[in-house]
Amino acid sequence: MALVTTKEMLRKAQKEGYAVGAFNANNMEIIQAIIETAEEEGAPVILQASQGAIKYAGLDYIVAMVRVAAEVASVPVALHLDHGTDYYQNIKCLRAGFTSLMYDGSKLPFAENVVNTKKVTEMAHACNIPVEAEIGQIGKMGTSDEPGVALERVKETMADPEEAAEFVKQTEIDSLAAAVGTIHGCRTPFAKLDIPRIEKIRDLTGVPLVLHGASGANDEEVKKGIAAGISKVNIDTRIRIAFVKKIREFLPLHPNEIDPRKVLKPAKEAAKEIIRDRMRVCGCSGKA
Ligand code: G3H
Ligand code: ZN
Repeated sequence: MALVTTKEMLRKAQKEGYAVGAFNANNMEIIQAIIETAEEEGAPVILQASQGAIKYAGLDYIVAMVRVAAEVASVPVALHLDHGTDYYQNIKCLRAGFTSLMYDGSKLPFAENVVNTKKVTEMAHACNIPVEAEIGQIGKMGTSDEPGVALERVKETMADPEEAAEFVKQTEIDSLAAAVGTIHGCRTPFAKLDIPRIEKIRDLTGVPLVLHGASGANDEEVKKGIAAGISKVNIDTRIRIAFVKKIREFLPLHPNEIDPRKVLKPAKEAAKEIIRDRMRVCGCSGKA
């Protein structure tokens, strides 16, 4: 089917108490892995492209690949901009055919984040495209970061519930990425979600909440987060790890192999297993 927006997808998830998996679309094999698994699981799915992925693959390539993938699928598929830190990046994605946007002004002072986010929602809503935005700061693991140190840092930048409510009210965003205990790029799942904070943000804002950096949260934490109000769960790092690990394992066993398709096939299968597992934890399997 044609690409759908995340608006109805996330409202349904919010109403029925599950989360939609949002997986980062970094190359063709990963896009295929996401769509095939969604189809096999009967799950609605969000493919999201970061600015890095857009730079790597090209905006038109990403849109074309995801569009084709969605057209052959029988489950709802949305194409979302992940962490668009620039107003013009959002415009370009809207024009290119994205069906969901994110403006990430989380590093800016609150007032500036509000003004910029509002500009994006006004522009996107004129075309019936929903917008996600970020409040608090969901940081990134440094390569030499100790989990304990990272967790301490995370506590300092969590979203303030009252500020989150004011942010949603002023910007009229459709979903909210609030910093609630996760951090991007964790290679082990050590994050602890602040469940009372999530519940408070849910109650004060009413919009579907988005869990970023969800690779770093174990099954129990993700499920508790969903029960507290998370409706979209973002996964990238776990897929990267599984994909590259398989390539590393494959090459020494097949030193004479020169066909990239043969090298990437097991990597794609490994990505599918991660995606399937996360969809089941999110409770979105069978919800298409
Ligand atoms: O925006 C992308 C996600 O928040 C992915 O986070 O790489 O830690 O899974 P992750
Ligand atoms: Zn993120």
